[in-house]
Amino acid sequence: MRQILLIITLSIVAFQLHAKPQWQIDSPNNHLTVMLTLSDDGLTYQVKYKNHSVIKPSKLGFEFKGQPPLQSNLRADEVVRRSINKKWSPIWGQRSEIEEHFNEVSISLSESSDLARKMTVTFRVFDDGVGFRYTLGRQSNLTDFVITKELTEFAFAKSFDTWWIPAYRNQRYEYQYLNSALSSVDVAHTPITLLDENFAISVHEAALENYASMVLKNVTDNHITFNADLVPWANGDKVYAKTPLITPWRTIQIADNEVDLLNSDLILNLNEPAKAEIETDYIKPGKYMGIWWEMHIGEKDWSPGEIQGATTKRALEYIDFASKHDIDGVLVEGWNTGWEGQWWQRPPTFNFTQPAAGFDIDRVSQYAQKKGIRLIGHHETAAGIKNYEDQMEDAFTYYEKLGVQSVKMGYVGTRLENAGKKEWHHGQFMVEHFSKVVNSAAKHQVMINGHETIKDTGLSRTYPNLMTREAVRGMEYNGGSPDGGNLPNHTVIIPFTRGLSGPIDFTPGIFNFDYQKKRPNNRIPTTLAKQLALYVTLYSPLQMAADLPENYQDHPAFTFIDDVPTDWQQSVALQGKIGEFLIIARQDKYSEDWYVGATSNEKARTLELPLSFLKAGELYEITSYQDAPNAHWESNPMAYEIKQQQGTNRDVLILNIQPGGGEAIRFRKVTKK
Ligand code: NOJ
Ligand code: CA
Repeated sequence: MRQILLIITLSIVAFQLHAKPQWQIDSPNNHLTVMLTLSDDGLTYQVKYKNHSVIKPSKLGFEFKGQPPLQSNLRADEVVRRSINKKWSPIWGQRSEIEEHFNEVSISLSESSDLARKMTVTFRVFDDGVGFRYTLGRQSNLTDFVITKELTEFAFAKSFDTWWIPAYRNQRYEYQYLNSALSSVDVAHTPITLLDENFAISVHEAALENYASMVLKNVTDNHITFNADLVPWANGDKVYAKTPLITPWRTIQIADNEVDLLNSDLILNLNEPAKAEIETDYIKPGKYMGIWWEMHIGEKDWSPGEIQGATTKRALEYIDFASKHDIDGVLVEGWNTGWEGQWWQRPPTFNFTQPAAGFDIDRVSQYAQKKGIRLIGHHETAAGIKNYEDQMEDAFTYYEKLGVQSVKMGYVGTRLENAGKKEWHHGQFMVEHFSKVVNSAAKHQVMINGHETIKDTGLSRTYPNLMTREAVRGMEYNGGSPDGGNLPNHTVIIPFTRGLSGPIDFTPGIFNFDYQKKRPNNRIPTTLAKQLALYVTLYSPLQMAADLPENYQDHPAFTFIDDVPTDWQQSVALQGKIGEFLIIARQDKYSEDWYVGATSNEKARTLELPLSFLKAGELYEITSYQDAPNAHWESNPMAYEIKQQQGTNRDVLILNIQPGGGEAIRFRKVTKK
């Protein structure tokens, strides 16, 4: 009897010695499961969605300069679980209320070696995806250090059908998306979208601050395991850090299909709330026009001279037009000195407090104020960070005095200048610079619209003056790009890819397709009705009406631009297929009115739109801006019709979309039925 008991005890010890500790975290609806396993080689994670493998066991950890990696021989000192289920209201956004519901586990690990370094890995599992990050707490063997590699892996379960843009290229994020098997992707920016017959996922990051951005690099023989490759400094170092350090979240959004990815708030939810004491009264979404498109189509120029775009007279014309319409702001590019000649090819000479000759900024800003229009500032740096940072504080003070409450940033250039070294636009250098910009702007009550900046990672939750950004191949490419411009399917790809990271300043609204005088090889790859639909399908709290006032003058279709809001109570992606078509419905934040945008690629298609999103029992006046039957993006883009009818939530609209076309619809609640 004694002997038997002894054997049982020994076998329990053996089990404890050899079993790998594991922790499972499920999403609140139990569809999504993360499994963490600790072995001598380190901690790994894997992800399953509705029992389908999404990510196979994948490594976690770091490599440092002059120190061994922090990955293996770890022991779990503490495991803390918690669940949060709350709602919060952004100052502006696609929804006036956001649900934040997740289960979390934080595992505090320490090395069994003499170094005894520590790290905590935290996983949050929501119904719409997973976020995980590292915390390196204050500790004696890790104080000031250099990260040379983040060892985080994404061992994807299959060679999914992938939509991606290449990383480490000269035009930053401004590329047409590629569609290929995951195994053929070498190195890609995030967000990256992967499709399977059972689900769709988007890999990205959230809350990127004081760190380098992540791109995904294919690292293995089977070609479907990727490393979280950190964009390096010019000397190859990845991140200069101090403990305590909290990394950005690595995110995996998951849904049954790509349309539902658009209804996820994961990226915003993984960012910190804004501090209660910050001033936000000046932060207002809205529409703007500006001295801009005429430069891109070659009619005007940023440089002073015969075709100078930024003149007092032209700015007043824009303000006059805007004040007669529902347009809040007027942007003036080329307003300051430094644009002379080939400004993008020399060390920058921009002065941010000195208006260009021919542009009377005091008169223009006073006129704008009188007319109830905001002058929108422009800080083009041409990637000259020092030239800009030396003037930044004065530049925002100057604008504040003029009543400018919104500034568009620009970083044209293939690399950023850093004391004789050339930095990527997406490394820690830019992340830290852009954070200085957003903070300095907030001090002067200025909203920011960033072009050529770092990608969005949801930081607008924490810094609500960070309104929108480009980080995409925008309308400007249809203006003067030597390759002729964007493809007709581009705007039915970017909502499912780039759009998942946050607002896009795409600058829609071109009405005049006949601008080939100086640009014989360029064209707009849409119909006019699709230009209107983009105001709904491409979300931005600052939305440009990009064409010239004379092209909008007395144009019946401009009524849609006048009416369409830029701040929403609800947004629902209803139907779509990446690269093919998309239908989104949004409800105005301040009324019961709804707006729908439907867009197609180069193909004609008939779509059924059940109006079940409208409030039951109410009657709506429906105004549709639709492609005429003979409309075609290439041969007849301007042919459109405006149709009025009444309907309720029990009706179904039939949308006849022509090649490269779309439809924009306003639903105005008229009365109770
Ligand atoms: C690139 C920006 O994306 C574009 O909108 C702007 O007009 C030019 N830079 C000049 O600053
Ligand atoms: Ca650009």
